[in-house]
Amino acid sequence: MLKVENLHVYYGVIHAIKGVSFEVKKGTIVSLIGSNGAGKSTILKTISNLLDVTEGDILFLGQSTKKLEAHKIVEMGISHVPEGRRVFPGLTVIENLQMGAYTRKDKEEIDKDLKKVFHHFPRLLERKNQLAGTLSGGEQQMLAMGRALMSRPKIMLLDEPSMGLAPLLVDEIFKIIEEINKSGTTILLVEQNANRALHISNYGYVLETGKVIAEGPSKQLMEDPKVIEAYLSA
Ligand SMILES: Nc1ncnc2c1ncn2[C@@H]1O[C@H](COP(=O)(O)OP(=O)(O)OP(=O)(O)O)[C@@H](O)[C@H]1O
Ligand SMILES: [Mg+2]
Repeated sequence: MLKVENLHVYYGVIHAIKGVSFEVKKGTIVSLIGSNGAGKSTILKTISNLLDVTEGDILFLGQSTKKLEAHKIVEMGISHVPEGRRVFPGLTVIENLQMGAYTRKDKEEIDKDLKKVFHHFPRLLERKNQLAGTLSGGEQQMLAMGRALMSRPKIMLLDEPSMGLAPLLVDEIFKIIEEINKSGTTILLVEQNANRALHISNYGYVLETGKVIAEGPSKQLMEDPKVIEAYLSA
């Protein structure tokens, strides 16, 4: 579904991504793990075309996306939930969700999708008229994910959905990610919480300073001594 081929990305003269290749097959959860500064967010931003590709290509359903505008990429079915829960604080929960459907006009279908989002996130339903800025951090994360779902994505790019959440909420978020995947959405999951990410994903890539240093089925990665030493022993 999504193929990244020999990707190079620069910030000015800084060579942040140095020839990264990976693939996300339809229906799977793929995790991209690595420590601070490895380049995980840079890759997601490049897929969404918030950053330019210097070399290499990004193919979504066989079509190169690197020359498309960011809104076109959303229309194609790629939805990005950035790091740090960007919600519109002055809008209510329901208004935030409606913003997620801005590329669509089919009101009935939008209402159907709202119901689906509230099914995944019952907490949001209880708070649908609350201003997003007054939600807790975990609730804002749920709202950001719910809003991304409102564009009916074929693939969701999740950037550290568990960051800063209490353990119980982390459990809840990972369970919801699995649920969203089971209901048909492919997921590219970026996480520092390698253990949890590998547990719910089918395949994983380990990134270090802009390069993929290991990849494999998640089960296999979890048994790889190098991965255990660097990312799983805490
Ligand atoms: N706007 C920018 N200008 C210059 N360098 C940047 C910029 N954004 C990121 N970088 C650099 O690019 C590298 C990769 O950053 P990136 O944010 O992709 O890492 P990350 O893997 O997402 O890390 P974290 O887990 O901390 O979120 C880092 O060395 C970072 O300092
Ligand atoms: Mg990041």
